[in-house]
Amino acid sequence: MHDLLNAVRKLRMEFVMSGVQILEAASLFQRDMAAGLKGLDSPLKMLPSFLARPTGEEKGTFLAIDFGGTNVRVMLVGLKGLGSYEIMAHRAFPLKDPAGGFDFTSENTDAGQLFDFIAENIAEMAPPGSACPLGHTFSFPTLQLGVNRAVLIKWTKEIRMPGMEGRDVNQKLAESLKKLGLGHVVPVAVINDTVGALLAAAYQNPGADIGSICGTGHNTCYIEPCPPADGGEMIINIESGNFDKLRFTKYDISLDEASERPGEQRLEKMVSGQYLGRLAQAIIQDFIDRGLIFKGNEHRLFKTFTLRTEDISLLLADQSRGLSNVAGWIRSALGIDSLLEERVALRTIASIVVTRSAQLVASTFAGILKHIDPELSGVHVIAVDGSLYELTPGYSRMLQATLNNVAERDFSIIGVKNGSGVGAAVAAAIAVQEVPKYNL
Ligand code: GLC
Repeated sequence: MHDLLNAVRKLRMEFVMSGVQILEAASLFQRDMAAGLKGLDSPLKMLPSFLARPTGEEKGTFLAIDFGGTNVRVMLVGLKGLGSYEIMAHRAFPLKDPAGGFDFTSENTDAGQLFDFIAENIAEMAPPGSACPLGHTFSFPTLQLGVNRAVLIKWTKEIRMPGMEGRDVNQKLAESLKKLGLGHVVPVAVINDTVGALLAAAYQNPGADIGSICGTGHNTCYIEPCPPADGGEMIINIESGNFDKLRFTKYDISLDEASERPGEQRLEKMVSGQYLGRLAQAIIQDFIDRGLIFKGNEHRLFKTFTLRTEDISLLLADQSRGLSNVAGWIRSALGIDSLLEERVALRTIASIVVTRSAQLVASTFAGILKHIDPELSGVHVIAVDGSLYELTPGYSRMLQATLNNVAERDFSIIGVKNGSGVGAAVAAAIAVQEVPKYNL
């Protein structure tokens, strides 16, 4: 019991950040932003989007695709102006379905097959006949050459499909649409999901100037007042998940080494839903191996079990005295009965991992705010979308409290729904206005 308490205490010290550490991370992040903007060596790519703040008056009907990693969603979105919109139709389909016999995230597929599959799903929703502009939220790092030209730099979030890196995303999509006789569906804009979140929020709230995803992946964008290319303010996709000036624990190091791309996306591997479950699992496994919990049952535990980030939420949601839900979870996941102290340890591990995630994200927000407003005196609204933010008990509160603490004033962090769909539609509306060649 004493050993377990000590181990949990030590874990907390390794993971949970002090105010000073959060501020240090914020200023390193700010420095890397400035370097990335100047094109100097930096883990932050600072990618231009070729889009500025919407007016809120964008109108029309647009197809939107949200290609995020695990699922693809297709939506028909009506923008009505004055910040109001309607999702007129909506469907989602997985990229991987063992029962259906396909996996578009694996090394055994290719970009042609993937985009043909997406085009087939668009076919079912595309209004027949007249030209329909399409906005595409593609949630991976891309080198953007124009509002409708984005070349995939590298896959993230453990996607392994070969042959797509270095290729123009919307060109591939347009080819697949044409092949299916859907030439009237015209991809006119391609954006990152963070940009989608920001556009969707700014469509309704002119104060919104930072957009972030805390979901399967993690990344943030913001409105840069002085981008390197002239022409006024522009939304910049930071690709903040690749930030790496961080304090790594032994668990972070082994998770990184076992990942698809060691050395990359180090912040993302410490904060996002794709990895938090694995991180908690590695800690629990270590506790078991050290004989701190589940003694006598070591042989049949975690080796074949996968702890998901949803399980973390379930552990955190248990407010009961005896942690009866945690007990039930242990029984169904591992097939054993547990002691109360073991349940408390598991719940604490979940909370430590989640707390550090919120603290790290808050530190990057503080760095961005300092970059755009060194005195921290203006109005700024941070729009956040994603399952981690939305569904993890306490996450949004912790994020908000940590930011306010280190910034020493209140900033507003708001949840944004349908960011990728509505944002893609807003981007398409802006593109159609600005690029006369679309002639739609
Ligand atoms: C990954 C991608 C990034 C995306 C984020 C959230 O970090 O590289 O482009 O915004 O996931 O989906």
